[in-house]
Amino acid sequence: MDAKQIEEWIKQLYTQEEFRLSLVVVFISICLYTANLPMAVITTLIVASLPFFILQMLENRRDEPSDIITSSEIEPEPEIEPEIKEDEVDGISIGKDDNKKPITVAVKDLGHTFIIGMTGYGKTRLVYGMITEMLTAYDPEDLRICFSDAKEISFDIFSDSRHLFAPIARTQDETTELVNLLLIEMRRRLKLFGEQKGRLCDNLDKYMQITGKKLPRIVVFFDEVADSIERGSETERNLTTLAKVARATGIQLVLITQRPTKEGITHEVTSQCQTYLSTYMKNNTEYGTVAKIPKEVYSVMNTKATQGLFMMFSPKFVKKFTSIEKDYNGWGFIMANYITDEDIERIAKDNAIEGLVLPELAKQITWGGSEDDKFNAMDELEIRDGELSVNNMMSQFGMSRPTAKSWVKKYNEDN
Ligand SMILES: Nc1ncnc2c1ncn2[C@@H]1O[C@H](COP(=O)(O)OP(=O)(O)OP(=O)(O)O)[C@@H](O)[C@H]1O
Ligand SMILES: [Mg+2]
Repeated sequence: MDAKQIEEWIKQLYTQEEFRLSLVVVFISICLYTANLPMAVITTLIVASLPFFILQMLENRRDEPSDIITSSEIEPEPEIEPEIKEDEVDGISIGKDDNKKPITVAVKDLGHTFIIGMTGYGKTRLVYGMITEMLTAYDPEDLRICFSDAKEISFDIFSDSRHLFAPIARTQDETTELVNLLLIEMRRRLKLFGEQKGRLCDNLDKYMQITGKKLPRIVVFFDEVADSIERGSETERNLTTLAKVARATGIQLVLITQRPTKEGITHEVTSQCQTYLSTYMKNNTEYGTVAKIPKEVYSVMNTKATQGLFMMFSPKFVKKFTSIEKDYNGWGFIMANYITDEDIERIAKDNAIEGLVLPELAKQITWGGSEDDKFNAMDELEIRDGELSVNNMMSQFGMSRPTAKSWVKKYNEDN
């Protein structure tokens, strides 16, 4: 028994009612036995104060330097900086496994992502988590984001982000323009890949490896995609093309919906998604037959959702992670990262370009107008980070490289 245990034991003993009571009994019996009151008082005081002395002694001993180290004195081990692996830097955390270990995934490994779930169960919040992680983990030259937002306000917090590829599309028309812009960018990239004669250049990574040039990955978030793209429209056909072809060019879609129904979004599009996340589900018809999720999977999700913020992953995704339990026909469940309003606001603010006037004006010229209109509007624009780059012109206005180059040349001559 070491000193600490003895101390604990005395403390416990002394705080017990029975012990104090026994002291009184001792006192009375001594009085009766000796019939000597002063003697009895002194004896009782000694007995009663003994634990105090012992405690005091132990306290004093602890203050003295000692060779004996008790467990409470052991210094925590200095934290060793974890060895950072390349793919860890490039990853974003999207949730935690059963041992609360973050599930980190490189954005490129997500491919196209389909997020479904009933209203109010955390789809948008999950996406906020992904975005804030992206803004923190990647430079704008490596990764860009853009939004189609049928709710119009969900992504306003990121409207000044230095990672924006294009202004936020808030209406169906703007979503149509955004999809067109992405198609232009996709074709431009395919053309660039095709120019690498004699090399097998069929994806973004290969292109960057061969040329040594950087081209940002573009992640496009469509919140309530069923509301911003009309069924059977040309935009829907273009979205299908993007879903089928754009991934290799580094353009990745994140499609978010409450309604993975026949009326919502086509299976032709969703079947191109590599990653499939779901928050909470209920309706057999919508989630079962259309989104092709087995019944036993979504019924488990119903219980999980009552325990907190859970997400469900498709077998394709889950098999990459040994730490996720792969029950239910290979589907896996992970706990969503909890992300507060304050975290989102802080990260969005840190990422914003101060005094950026791009959104309003750029909205008009990106979502319409001829190339000349765009050019004339140039002078009124405050250019990002104080400089005009060919890449910015291409991404902001959907220009071809030669056009962007000539405008940059002219702009620099004029200033
Ligand atoms: N991961 C999370 N961390 C913190 N809060 C969350 C999280 N997920 C959901 N919430 C809380 O639940 C609310 C509703 O979540 P969210 O807006 O993301 O739902 P939704 O699925 O997008 O709903 P809708 O379909 O109506 O747009 C959030 O405003 C937030 O308060
Ligand atoms: Mg939402």
